[in-house]
Amino acid sequence: MSDIKLVSRREFVKAAGSAAAATSLLGAASGAAQPSKRRYAIVGTGDRAQGMWGRPLVQRYSDVLEFVGLCDINPKRAAIARDLIGVTCPTFSNFDELCEKARPDLLMVTTVDAFHHEYIVKGLDRGLDVMTEKPMVIDEKQCQAVLDAEKRNNRKIVVTFNYRYAPKHRTVKEVIQAGEIGRVLSVDFSWYLDVYHGADYFRRWHRLQNRSGSLWVHKASHHFDLMNWWLAADPVEVSANGSLRVYGKNGPFRHTNCRPCPHKKDCRFYYDMTTNATRMKLYAGAEDVDGYYRDGCVFREDIDIFDTMSATVKYSNDAIMSYSVNAHMPFEGYRVAFNGELGRLEVRDHERQPWDVADADETEIYVTKSFGKRVRVPVQVAEGGHGGGDDRLRDLIFRKVDAPPHMRLPDSRAGAMSCLTGIAARKSIDEKRPIRIADLVKI
Ligand SMILES: NC(=O)c1ccc[n+]([C@@H]2O[C@H](COP(=O)([O-])OP(=O)(O)OC[C@H]3O[C@@H](n4cnc5c(N)ncnc54)[C@H](O)[C@@H]3O)[C@@H](O)[C@H]2O)c1
Repeated sequence: MSDIKLVSRREFVKAAGSAAAATSLLGAASGAAQPSKRRYAIVGTGDRAQGMWGRPLVQRYSDVLEFVGLCDINPKRAAIARDLIGVTCPTFSNFDELCEKARPDLLMVTTVDAFHHEYIVKGLDRGLDVMTEKPMVIDEKQCQAVLDAEKRNNRKIVVTFNYRYAPKHRTVKEVIQAGEIGRVLSVDFSWYLDVYHGADYFRRWHRLQNRSGSLWVHKASHHFDLMNWWLAADPVEVSANGSLRVYGKNGPFRHTNCRPCPHKKDCRFYYDMTTNATRMKLYAGAEDVDGYYRDGCVFREDIDIFDTMSATVKYSNDAIMSYSVNAHMPFEGYRVAFNGELGRLEVRDHERQPWDVADADETEIYVTKSFGKRVRVPVQVAEGGHGGGDDRLRDLIFRKVDAPPHMRLPDSRAGAMSCLTGIAARKSIDEKRPIRIADLVKI
């Protein structure tokens, strides 16, 4: 077929030289004999909690988990989430009370990003096994606090980087790791957030740097984690630019949120949340408590994050990446290309676009060998959230499935390195200079 012999998955695992490793969290707690079911609690009961770490766990992992408590600063939302998840455990608005009364031994942190560190540290100090959604933290101080809490308690957290578990992303990892393009010298990486998904970040708390760390941290930490993992390297130095060009103060008019907005007929970003029954329950049903509008106006003047961003990142293996993310694109997806000593690996991922793309072409991966030919690399078409990553990640956590070393659960180091790339980018814009990762925290 070609002059390329991509290493098969079985050959690759064998070549990696280590037996497949069991990675389930169910066997991970500090050596003690495990109870038959983990006592599971969630803090932060919004959409991700109920849709990823709530209902699917009740449906598929009830034999190994017992929901013992749900906690959110908005007690109404916690109660609504309990109904949506389909459990009867108590709800709490105070984390210490959750721990004392419900006595969980496994905690999932799915709050607004700025508060992850608080619950990770408290959970570790109470001896719990802790999992957190990305981003692990939003600034370097929070990062140091999490790393110190792990050391102090001699425990490791899991950071749930679901993107790694999408078959397309695993394929990229395995092509690079198999040496198909040789040493990676540079990377071109462009991520496109469209006027639906991209705009959605500007409706909510993500619009504020002190809640999300900006999209450099909230969103790009996914991409930076993929890159650190794909390259098997750490970021060393980051230079960045960013601006707010479409949303926030750039809008022609504004209101608090879409439902009562007098401009809805003229606004191209108008979002009719009343068509989504779950969101009406979970958000509109609890907004009188905290004023959290899920359909907030994308033109609010308090928006202080960027919608147009680019960075150059230097890595510990001497690779250099040109990265950009734009949050106002007509289509959703990404392009990434790895320029190697022996060839180039190119990926074009189509997530949503105003033209037809066949299922089999949603992710196109090509290897072009220098002095050779271009070959398309087959990718398994995956069903389910985040390119099939959500299901695979849950199975890895809650079932004793085997995985090769490169598919083990991501830890705090991965959490830190991905966030620190974004934190350094943000700082580079503020301080108009390149930022070295080593100057941010002691790992
Ligand atoms: N891995 C992924 O692909 C993915 C996808 C979506 C969201 N996420 C992550 O999941 C987390 C939650 O996102 P979401 O979309 O569900 O947001 P959301 O706004 O729907 O839910 C966040 C919840 O946290 C609660 N909260 C806020 N401050 C709190 C505090 N101090 N203590 C306790 N609860 C608090 C809010 O009341 C809200 O119910 C975020 O960190 C986000 O980055 C990850």
